[in-house]
Amino acid sequence: VAALHPDNGGLFIDATFGAGGYTRLLLAHACVRVIGIDRDPSALAAGASLVAEAGGRLRLAAARFSQVAEVLAALDEPVCDGLVVDIGVSSMQFDEAARGFSFRFDAPLDMRMSGEGISAADIVTQASEADLADILFHYGEERRARQIARAITARRRSAPIATTRDLADLVQRLMPGRPGDIHPATRSFQALRIAVNDELGELARLLDAAQHVLAPGGHLAVVSFHSLEDRIVKTFLQMASASLPSASRHLPQSQQPPASFTPTLRKPLVADEAEVAANPRARSAKLRAARRTDSAPLKLAIDTLLPPVKPVAAMVRGG
Ligand SMILES: C[S@@+](CC[C@H](N)C(=O)[O-])C[C@H]1O[C@@H](n2cnc3c(N)ncnc32)[C@H](O)[C@@H]1O
Repeated sequence: VAALHPDNGGLFIDATFGAGGYTRLLLAHACVRVIGIDRDPSALAAGASLVAEAGGRLRLAAARFSQVAEVLAALDEPVCDGLVVDIGVSSMQFDEAARGFSFRFDAPLDMRMSGEGISAADIVTQASEADLADILFHYGEERRARQIARAITARRRSAPIATTRDLADLVQRLMPGRPGDIHPATRSFQALRIAVNDELGELARLLDAAQHVLAPGGHLAVVSFHSLEDRIVKTFLQMASASLPSASRHLPQSQQPPASFTPTLRKPLVADEAEVAANPRARSAKLRAARRTDSAPLKLAIDTLLPPVKPVAAMVRGG
């Protein structure tokens, strides 16, 4: 919250409303108004009581956060003073068995944050072996991606892979791991979740949009949970603060367009021991923050921030 500088009030976007924890802390500042965005209808439904409590200072929007500019326009707000995003799955989603995010429970292999579109089961039953290997390798950093992809396509010829347990058992049979190691299916589950929700594409497009929706002097704060996400945030901020010449690499340094963001933290902020002890899920969280300059948005090659994996819609029938 400190990274967003809400002390003097203003309009803030909580692009990942979830259970409303960030929004609640922002609203504790007197003249702050908040727009909360979430693609999960159940998170927004649970937020109705907070909207009522906030006395007109909180509005909620069902949308993907990459659509933040459209959300602001629809609410007749030209710009905002701060934008925060807390990427990934919420504890509510992860801990609700039926959503299929976790192999701790046996449930349909779903993983859709919005409850709509292509599910993890669609990908596992329809994507080609090469596409599955790409997902597992690039989104899960799984070294045995090809082997797992081969096992999935072999298995589905004889029996369906419809549940979290089906997939977790298949990966575990292939690579049993040692006691005390993380579950061997952890990386595969992360990979599928990222693919189903286009999490990295959403993040890259949100960062690009932040250049357009933040007023000069407005603050951006991004909390990420693994290196794939953090690398995108870090590289974007390097590009936008013109400390990477990739914005327009054919121009001499003196003619580089001026930066659209200035980083406000020298290093990413991580949770200290006490916070990790109180909330183990904070152990891999990293906060990066930046201030919008008054220069025009840069035309950035956002696609270069993303791993080379095709959209899931191109991997499944009728996608
Ligand atoms: C880690 S939780 C946020 C928790 C929140 N900061 C809180 O205090 O409760 C992430 C939330 O963002 C939502 N989300 C993730 N990606 C999204 C996207 N691309 N567009 C909109 N919402 C998204 C998820 O549905 C989830 O509810």
